[in-house]
Amino acid sequence: MSMTIADSTKIRESFPKPVPDTPHNVIAQFKMTGKVVVVNGAADGIGYAVAEAMAEANASVVFWYNSNNVAVQKAEQLGKEHNVKTKAYKVNVSDPRQVKDAVAQVEQDFGRIDVFVANAGMAISKPILEQALDEFDKQMSVNVNGVVYCAKYTGAVFRRQGFGNLIITSSMSAHIVNVPTDQPVYNATKAFVSRFGKSLAREWREFARVNIVSPGFFDTKMGASPLAVNEAYRMAVLGRQGHVKEIKGLYLYLASDASTYTTGSDILIDGGYTLP
Ligand SMILES: NC(=O)c1ccc[n+]([C@@H]2O[C@H](COP(=O)([O-])OP(=O)(O)OC[C@H]3O[C@@H](n4cnc5c(N)ncnc54)[C@H](OP(=O)(O)O)[C@@H]3O)[C@@H](O)[C@H]2O)c1
Repeated sequence: MSMTIADSTKIRESFPKPVPDTPHNVIAQFKMTGKVVVVNGAADGIGYAVAEAMAEANASVVFWYNSNNVAVQKAEQLGKEHNVKTKAYKVNVSDPRQVKDAVAQVEQDFGRIDVFVANAGMAISKPILEQALDEFDKQMSVNVNGVVYCAKYTGAVFRRQGFGNLIITSSMSAHIVNVPTDQPVYNATKAFVSRFGKSLAREWREFARVNIVSPGFFDTKMGASPLAVNEAYRMAVLGRQGHVKEIKGLYLYLASDASTYTTGSDILIDGGYTLP
């Protein structure tokens, strides 16, 4: 940042940087041929939709799952369906050792990591005065520590490669105090990863892009609870929860060469929930 006009007119070496050599045709920009994409929380919900989007665009897709080992079968099936390389790994993202080892294993098995989608998350939605401290710790360990570990170990690969792309699944709850359920810890974990992702976009500017997706309510296991669902319909101007097929395009945009000028963005995809 320049402090004066005189400062700002000094020519900096290597600026402007070159425009990347990507296709002009927009459909070609969305093609993921030759790219390796890791998705965590990939067994179901938003993560599986992202894995599908990447395979449909011809990427090799690495599934990370924690407890839901249907991921193994889903990875195999998706690979066959789209004739792309896929593999599933069991990784608890709140354990830094497991994350470090899995990143190294993926690099060994696939030779590179182009995109890492840090999507795993969990919520124990309660007011702080009713929240046990171990419930607080658990949410922090997955939603905050898990994203930090994944970013730290994948970022090291990106720096060594000289390229990379991190996409973090945050939430509209990073932007608003979500209603009607009081869940200050979940909201704050998502605010952390949104700010963390923006900070990494600057830190990694020479070799990787970093962007954040902030979904509103999507109809998954982490979607609106039975007690909150009517409010979810009322608050979203589109009058419903999102279907996971409606989020695929955004992750593909961010993962692909269609978004080479997009970094540090935190994109809301919420059916208009946060408008009022
Ligand atoms: N659905 C919504 O309305 C909504 C709105 C805003 C943001 N989000 C965010 O979207 C992301 C995906 O959620 P979803 O809606 O697709 O629900 P989901 O299907 O329940 O996905 C959550 C995923 O997180 C994984 N996970 C949880 N703890 C983990 C751990 N310790 N290590 C590794 N993975 C772990 C789970 O893996 P296993 O099943 O294998 O254990 C699961 O696949 C989350 O970050 C969530 O906060 C969702």
